[in-house]
Amino acid sequence: MKLAYNQASKVLGNTGSNPAVGCVIVKNNELVSLAHTNFNGRPHAERIALSNKKINFKGSLLYSTLEPCSHYGKTSPCTDIIKKRSIKTVYFSKFDPDRRSFKKAKKKLNKCNIKTFENIHKYIGDCFYKDFNIRKRTNNIFISSKLATSKDLFISEKYNKWITNVYSRARVHLLRANHDSILTTSRTILKDDPMLNCRIDGLQHYSPKRFVIDKDLTIPMTSKIIRTADNISTYLFYNSIDNNKLNKLSQVKVKTIRIDLKNKHLDFNKIILFLRNKGFYRVFVEAGIKFNNFLLDNLYINDFYHFYSDQLFGNRGLYNTKNFFNKMNKIKRSKREIEINLFQDKLLKYSLK
Ligand SMILES: NC(=O)c1ccc[n+]([C@@H]2O[C@H](COP(=O)([O-])OP(=O)(O)OC[C@H]3O[C@@H](n4cnc5c(N)ncnc54)[C@H](OP(=O)(O)O)[C@@H]3O)[C@@H](O)[C@H]2O)c1
Repeated sequence: MKLAYNQASKVLGNTGSNPAVGCVIVKNNELVSLAHTNFNGRPHAERIALSNKKINFKGSLLYSTLEPCSHYGKTSPCTDIIKKRSIKTVYFSKFDPDRRSFKKAKKKLNKCNIKTFENIHKYIGDCFYKDFNIRKRTNNIFISSKLATSKDLFISEKYNKWITNVYSRARVHLLRANHDSILTTSRTILKDDPMLNCRIDGLQHYSPKRFVIDKDLTIPMTSKIIRTADNISTYLFYNSIDNNKLNKLSQVKVKTIRIDLKNKHLDFNKIILFLRNKGFYRVFVEAGIKFNNFLLDNLYINDFYHFYSDQLFGNRGLYNTKNFFNKMNKIKRSKREIEINLFQDKLLKYSLK
């Protein structure tokens, strides 16, 4: 099952409206096939794993991270192909929260004498499918945010661009690849001029679509994010109309979306609605402390990643986040889930809702 999760995590954030699933097939104690959901969500992992006609799957054990689908969607159910290929036993980690399939595969498979075992590594499944669960239960999108800080909790330094080491930064790139969209603010673009893509070799094509909150259309046409918009889809949320700038942005393929104001800022609920309607479900926020405070105060954050350097910035430090972390620790459901050593840095992952 761990190998199946390993497969699923390769496409996390890149399977559209479908969940990322991993599937492993074992026959006579030998691994005979493995697969993950295809990029953009179709075909499903089980279908791909069972697609090799040269393999005789009769009597095999199938491990899937999620309960196989049992309903007719755009394709026939995976339970049908599992039956057709004469699989003996199906192990899965989590029941599919999609109502069309929830607990139905078990019944369907058991009816044709295929044994099923559920809740294998359930805790891993609960974490891995947290966003999918929330989406199916509440129709809400999933928001992760990250801040990199010095040991004394500054998020910026007067003279130096980098806060954390190369291992932390590579991990951020991986997180970008695991989300379908990335959201930042014009203030962060003006200060840092980031590309916000995934630059890990072989994973560049998993870079998320980029969204910038830029109420007054202030980010320069020379910023990296604008200059690379013909390669990586880039959207600007704005309010103040400047036809000249809007024309220029459209010429370089930046899509612009006008959003109403609420309390002098762009109405964030309208931004969320836009993302959801366009099929973005996993949003990764890379912004400064003002925007993170807003998200935290209004309980928008689901998961939070703290990249924690061991360097003290002292009076070179800018934007202290002590209050932010104090507030986060006081949130009732806030739970520190994981701590990973990244050489001198640490990654602390919090689950907030
Ligand atoms: N270490 C890290 O992980 C990290 C990551 C990113 C950035 N940074 C640093 O953070 C600094 C920038 O931080 P910042 O705090 O100045 O800017 P920020 O948090 O990136 O952005 C603040 C902007 O968000 C917009 N916003 C939209 N809706 C909002 C709402 N409801 N409430 C509050 N703001 C809202 C506001 O723009 P409007 O006023 O136009 O509405 C506000 O000016 C830079 O120095 C950058 O280097 C660090």
